[in-house]
Amino acid sequence: MALKDIHYPLFIGEDHIRLSTIPSTNKYAMDMVSKSKPNEGTVISASYQSDGKGQIGRYWTSEAEKNITCSIILYPTFLQAQDQFQLNMAVSLAVHDVVSSFLPDHNIKVKWPNDVYVNNQKIAGILLQAVLTGKKINSVVIGIGLNINQMTFPLDIPNPTSLAIEKSTKLELLEVYERLFECLTCRYRQLIDQNTEEIYSTYLNNLYRYDEWHEYTDHKNHTFEGKIIGVEAHGFLKIEDKDGKINKFAFREVIFKI
Ligand code: BTN
Repeated sequence: MALKDIHYPLFIGEDHIRLSTIPSTNKYAMDMVSKSKPNEGTVISASYQSDGKGQIGRYWTSEAEKNITCSIILYPTFLQAQDQFQLNMAVSLAVHDVVSSFLPDHNIKVKWPNDVYVNNQKIAGILLQAVLTGKKINSVVIGIGLNINQMTFPLDIPNPTSLAIEKSTKLELLEVYERLFECLTCRYRQLIDQNTEEIYSTYLNNLYRYDEWHEYTDHKNHTFEGKIIGVEAHGFLKIEDKDGKINKFAFREVIFKI
């Protein structure tokens, strides 16, 4: 989506709580929604997280004041709990839009389910935490870690990169935050408008390794050559193997060999 397509008024980021050091913006936002009802689109950002959370119990490290570390509170009550992956796609595309706008000549992809990659390196991660009421989504906290000005990373972080590494120049953090809020508002509006076909086709068009043969390892530690052929409505990744068999994987059931 081109930035000129953005519809105003924006509402994500209208309320923005800027904090210096906290353990985790996701944890802070989850505490907020458990105690009150902040305005939809409220953003909590931190200069530094002492206990940043990654997916599946992992951690997220980010040098102080270098990168985007924020969480956004949304109430997508129009979505069924089983359709959460639609929100995941919309948010991944929004972050993809931001990175692409700053790196127009680079190969930017969404690595299933929601990492954003520049070539074979990870520039952003997303942690979505939903509060459900029965089969409905009541509220969602969307945590985004987007590497902006960090030039070096701890050795145990696999294949990281940042906008500054890719551009060889530092960026104004606030400018990237503003762009992120625009892109998130825009993609979230698409979801509200039930433009799900467009979200899905754009997600597939920008999916890392879509329709290409690569090596994967499954949860039984079996390595195989496969080709991503799609994603199921509930988010399962579909990989065809060389025998023509279509295998479906939940998150963490398959490892990409990079
Ligand atoms: C991943 O593992 O790829 C997801 C990383 C998500 C990190 C962000 S940083 C802001 C927000 N607060 C957290 O504690 N985690 C998310």
